[in-house]
Amino acid sequence: MKGIILAGGTGSRLYPLTKITNKHLLPIYDKPMIYYPLQTLIDAGLNEIMIVSGRGHAGDFLELLGSGAEFGVHLTYEIQEEAGGIAQALGLAEDFADDDSVAVILGDNIFQDSVREAVQSFESGAHVFLKEVPDANRFGVAEIEGDHIVSIEEKPEKPKSNYAVTGLYLYDSDVFEIISTLKPSGRGELEITDVNNEYIGQGAMSYSVLEGFWSDAGMFESLLRAGQMVAESKKNIVESRFY
Ligand code: G1P
Repeated sequence: MKGIILAGGTGSRLYPLTKITNKHLLPIYDKPMIYYPLQTLIDAGLNEIMIVSGRGHAGDFLELLGSGAEFGVHLTYEIQEEAGGIAQALGLAEDFADDDSVAVILGDNIFQDSVREAVQSFESGAHVFLKEVPDANRFGVAEIEGDHIVSIEEKPEKPKSNYAVTGLYLYDSDVFEIISTLKPSGRGELEITDVNNEYIGQGAMSYSVLEGFWSDAGMFESLLRAGQMVAESKKNIVESRFY
């Protein structure tokens, strides 16, 4: 399996923090944001990782992360010329994926849980990671019946559950064929939720529920919360060494 970090977008919800730098380079406690999704993929056992970013700051990512040698992985870079949605950005990684399956993570998603087991046991179809949240209407929301997801709604006014679909997805190589059939949504983007609903329709979607903290860091509140959560978890690790 290959890893893909999607780090495009304009970061408009964090303006003016993002006026002269990219959202994914902003600090989350003691590291630039993109270190966290990168570490999530590395901890899952992936070592071929592509970073897809917009034009403006691609050089900064290269400067920051280089070849990946210091992390023990191999990094590849791709440019998304214009913001066209998460699924469109993922489509740019087709040649890189080279018929392998992919773990796709959004560059602003901070996970505490390890996803190594799900990644290592993934065979085909798609797999998403859900997290129970109080504000599900900000996210893709899963409707669950029994042990199946029956649909995902993107930012619904009336969420059918409290389970947000987090920004980490496992796909088999069919995902690129699915992306090629998508039409832009109302907001003019190729939606990752449409990709997921296609897999659901094919009966090929599985899921797991995260226990540890999760936050996107795309808004002021969630950026602050992500930093606090990381600081808190480091404090707990330090304290646990003393008791
Ligand atoms: C995106 C996805 C959404 C998902 C979220 C996770 O939303 O479209 O389904 O729940 O990431 O962070 P965005 O942050 O692009 O609005």
